[in-house]
Amino acid sequence: MQITLIRPDDWHLHLRDDEAIKSVVAHTAERFARAIVMPNLKPPVTTTAMAMAYRDRILSALPHNSDFTPLMTLYMTDRLTSDEVIVAKKSQIIKGIKLYPAGATTHSDAGVTDIRKLYPVLETMQREGLPLLIHAEVTDPDVDIFDREQVFIDRHLRPLTRDFPALPMVFEHITTRQAVDFVRANEGTVGATITVQHLLYNRNAMLVGGIRPHYYCLPILKRESHQSALIEAATSGESHFFLGTDSAPHPQHAKECACGCAGCYTAHAAIELYAEIFERANALDRLEGFASLFGPDFYGLPRNRDTITLAKKKWSIPESYQFGQDRVVPLGSGESVNWQLVR
Ligand code: DOR
Ligand code: ZN
Repeated sequence: MQITLIRPDDWHLHLRDDEAIKSVVAHTAERFARAIVMPNLKPPVTTTAMAMAYRDRILSALPHNSDFTPLMTLYMTDRLTSDEVIVAKKSQIIKGIKLYPAGATTHSDAGVTDIRKLYPVLETMQREGLPLLIHAEVTDPDVDIFDREQVFIDRHLRPLTRDFPALPMVFEHITTRQAVDFVRANEGTVGATITVQHLLYNRNAMLVGGIRPHYYCLPILKRESHQSALIEAATSGESHFFLGTDSAPHPQHAKECACGCAGCYTAHAAIELYAEIFERANALDRLEGFASLFGPDFYGLPRNRDTITLAKKKWSIPESYQFGQDRVVPLGSGESVNWQLVR
């Protein structure tokens, strides 16, 4: 059996920098036509000039004759100005501005400390129609890590959607039933990406029988009832839910240690794993909308014209891949996948 889809895009991706880009971008470029590239480098990508230079580094790391377009983002800090927003919009290469609450996740120390101070900048983004991409977790130490997303909805997202009713927002990597409900209640301006790992697993995969660091990402995997809500949303055919892998490679030694960092690497088999999820939910006919149509529609970009084909054919995911001078352990390492990209 085979399925053919309009070529998909990845609306949330980490490509890292320097030599590491080359190790991972080929996996994405084989499957996806475009990807929204996250700006959480060290130092973060805070200006259009920095994003243009980063884009050049990505393009020169691409394999020959690959046809892949990186869509760039800026990292919002307390110091972002309205002038920079206008420059970003004019450039046509910046497709969104990413809000990380300071300290929420990997390389987020330069993130936003008080969103209210950025209201003038958000005003400009709303006027320019430049989407706000949100890592929606509070960082207060007194909020339980499993509740950080739903608390962010009440404390920050509700006020934001009330105060900026025309600002397009992407609620990134949603992980809870509350997030699904919030996106549905705000359809039109709020879209959401859903990752492979949050559809495939719940927190048991990470914690039962031993701590498995390769399932640790942020927002953290939640309980099974939330996983079911995400599967229902992704396969619903509703256009506000679309594909974003959040593929986030880290060197093996940085994950397999006493304080392992957050991030799952999924670029090696992303569309194949989504196909598996949709097939299991009896919704393969809705994969194309989720993977290839709703994202570009939300961002106001043209849909891709070419296609990819997946064959129902088992293959084994390698234990690890090269990652710069290191190795990265992919999600599902050593396991098999039922769908294969026809090359
Ligand atoms: O698990 C994660 N890894 N979540 C994020 O928000 C950042 C990402 C990374 O950059 O490694
Ligand atoms: Zn991310």
